[in-house]
Formats: sequence, structure tokens, C-alpha cells
Amino acid sequence: MPDFDKVTLLVGDSATELEIVASTQGHSGLDISKLMAATGLSSFDPAFVNTASTKSAITYIDGDQGILRYRGYPIEQVAELKSFTETSYLLIYGAFPTATELTDFEKKISVRTEHIQQLDGFFRSFPKDAHPMAVLSAAVSALSTFYPETLDPGSEAAIEESTLRLLAMVPVVTAYAHKASIGEDFVAPRPELSMVDNFLNMTFGSNEIPFEQNLIVSKALDTLLLLHADHEQNCSTSTVRLVGSSQANLYASVSAGVNALSGPLHGGANEAVIEMLELINKTSETVETYVERVKNKEDNVRLMGFGHRVYKSFDPRAKIVKATADQVLSELGVTDPLLAVAKQLEAIALADDYFVSRKLYPNVDFYTGVIYKALGFPPKMFTPLFAIGRMPGWIAHWREMNSEANTRISRPQQVYIGEAERSI
Ligand code: ACO
Repeated sequence: MPDFDKVTLLVGDSATELEIVASTQGHSGLDISKLMAATGLSSFDPAFVNTASTKSAITYIDGDQGILRYRGYPIEQVAELKSFTETSYLLIYGAFPTATELTDFEKKISVRTEHIQQLDGFFRSFPKDAHPMAVLSAAVSALSTFYPETLDPGSEAAIEESTLRLLAMVPVVTAYAHKASIGEDFVAPRPELSMVDNFLNMTFGSNEIPFEQNLIVSKALDTLLLLHADHEQNCSTSTVRLVGSSQANLYASVSAGVNALSGPLHGGANEAVIEMLELINKTSETVETYVERVKNKEDNVRLMGFGHRVYKSFDPRAKIVKATADQVLSELGVTDPLLAVAKQLEAIALADDYFVSRKLYPNVDFYTGVIYKALGFPPKMFTPLFAIGRMPGWIAHWREMNSEANTRISRPQQVYIGEAERSI
């Protein structure tokens, strides 16, 4: 919090006072909502590098210190002590559930899982090599047609119902997108299983032979989902809020979030990292030649899984993921040369001035792919897994935005640089 509560902006001879919007932690904001009316100028901030689009009480990040907290709780503690479902509850409702609340929440979710047979043809209608992120976003949008009573953003009951439906059904439709892509039958959800075990069974099991539950696999996936659960106003979450600001329903808003997440600079990076590691492992490309190409910006090639808009010292999630990768591969008895390539790349980059001077460090996506691979997921499923993890965060932000009395439709300005009026 700065030690002043106003900033005076001088435009020509006229002074405009801008108020400070106080934070409880981190950057406070300069309220420029009256800027255009007072000065005739809009603010110009490409990629929103300096712009706070909202107040929020869900997640706090200090990018210089490598701090991430969900509702005030450090990510390290959450990852060690809580499950993905408890974390989802925390993000959405503001506090961890009691034991009874947790059982109730789990039940509310599990009874809302279902195999919607009308969607079977939908999943089968895509080309075999369709990317599951495209199918997932379409499926999330399609879900809204099956639950019309849950669409009204003005109804608390509808919001609660769509929240539970999405938490229940996104793992189901993600698993079905996978099954369709490998030409296997869909596996009916089993409400008696935990969310993670149910998802693993629908993904890797069959109706005849259930997936053999494995505590190491379940725990590893649960931790990865939890680490992705929220990250304040990132690209996909901002998309969800922006779409929701038009009073589009929760499914439509989240479906847009899935699309925003799919890009390689955002959630799609986890798949791109594995492709990069495989390129180095399987071709004449070496760690050194790859890093040189990155530094020379050849064909705009980047060190995928490195760098972050906010984190400038380290990404606390990446630290946990790296330790988890070592542990899971060793517990599962998997030796993957890609883990060694990733570690080599990290070591070389962290000692190189190109990356050090630009404050580029491994982000959450750098080591996740190696774990997902060890758990048996194909690379195309990595970003959908991220989407399952991010679901509670998107929902929490949409609800926070929707519950504010003064929420208006989001509508940025532009600085027009086209032709002045001319005649044909
Ligand atoms: N490899 C090589 N150079 C990089 C990388 C990278 N991964 N990231 C940034 N840089 C360089 C840029 O070329 C630029 O260099 P310059 O000053 O010489 O022009 C400088 O670092 C600043 O980069 P920007 O692109 O301006 O940083 P921005 O904050 O806009 O982008 C981003 C952040 C998209 C994450 C970027 O670091 C990146 O592309 N990383 C690789 C993709 C990735 O891992 N994305 C996942 C992010 S985490 C998440 O969304 C879940």
C-alpha cells in the first residue's frame, strides 16, 4: 500500500486527481475509471501488463518473491495437506470444508456425473486426430443444452447447480474426448469412486476391465490438478470473466476459457514442452544447439515451459512439480530420458545470461508433461488435464465477478490508427 491516497495527473493545464484502490497485499491500483471523461485520453496498455481489471479476493501472487496463495494459504501447504476437491471448495466458497461439508460436496459432485448418451455421436463425429482441447471446449458448451434450468446468471440456485455440474461433468467429457480419439467405448462414470479415480477409470479403464487403482498415480494427479486450480487474472481466467460479464452463462464462459487455455503460450505449453524434449532426445538436436537457437530467436523458437508474465524469480508451483516428478517416476519405477533432458535444459538456461537477464525460470508446465507421461497420458491430453485443474478457479472467478453489484459488461477501448473518413 503506497503512503499516498491520490495521484494528480496533469494534462495541459488541467489537473485530475486519481484515487488509489488499496490492496491488502501487493500492488494497489490507480483508479483511472474517470480518465476519459476528465482528459479525453484513454489508457494504453497492450497485453494489460500494468492493468488490474478487477479487485479479487481469491488468489494472491507475488511474482518477485515466488509466492502463490489460494485464499491466503501458501500453495506449498495446500499441496502437502489438502486434496484437489478441498482446494476446489476453498476457491469457490472461500474456506476449506469441514469433514461433513467435504463428504457432502463430494457426493453432490459424484451424483451429477453421467454418461449422456445423446453426446456419443457428438464425440464420434470429430476426426480421429482432433485435438481434445477443441472437443472439450465444444463439449463444455454443449453441456449447457442438457441442463437448461442451470443457465440463469441471476439465480443463485442455477449458479450453484451449474458449478456442481461442471465440476462433475468436465472430467467425464474430457475422458470421453480421449476415448473417442483412440476409438474405444465410453466408460460409464462410477459415483462411488473419488473424482480422480473416476476420471482415471473413464480414461484408462473399460466397461469390462476397470482401471486398477494405484495410490501413487491418483495422488500425483490430484496434486497436479490442485497446483493448477487457480492463478488469478491469467489469460483464460480473464477470458472467463470477460465473457461472463455479458451475462453469458457459466458453461459458455468456461468453454471460452478452455479455448484461451489451449494456446502454447498458456496451458498448451505443457504439450509443447514434451514435443521440445522429444525433439532433443530423438533427433540430432542437442540441449546446447536448442538453447542457441532460442537465444538467436531462430524461427521464434522459445524454451517452452520457461518464463512467466508475473513470476520473475521462480514459480513456486514448478518447484513442487519438479520434486513430484522425481518422486513419482521413482515410485512408479519409470526411467524417462526426457526428465534428464529437462534437467539439463534447466541447468544450462539458469546459468545463461540470456535467461538470467530476462528473469526466465521454469514455470509450472516445464516438468508436468514428464509426470503425465509417466502416468500414461498421451501428450494431447496434457492441456485438457490442465483444464480440469483450472475449472474451480474459473468458476470461482466467474462467481466473484457475477456477485459484484457494480459489474458492467467488459469492453476495452482502442487507439484507432486507421484512415480518417474518406469517400468511395
Ligand atoms: N524462451 C526464450 N525467450 C523468452 C521466453 C522463452 N520461453 N519467454 C520470454 N522470452 C524472452 C522474449 O523473447 C523477450 O525477449 P526480448 O526482451 O529480447 O524481446 C523477453 O523474454 C520478454 O518476453 P515476453 O514475451 O515479452 O514476456 P511475456 O510476459 O509477454 O510472456 C510468456 C510470458 C508467454 C509465458 C513467455 O515467457 C513464453 O512465451 N514462455 C514460453 C511458453 C510457456 O511456457 N507458457 C506457459 C506460461 S505459464 C501458463 O500459462 C500456465
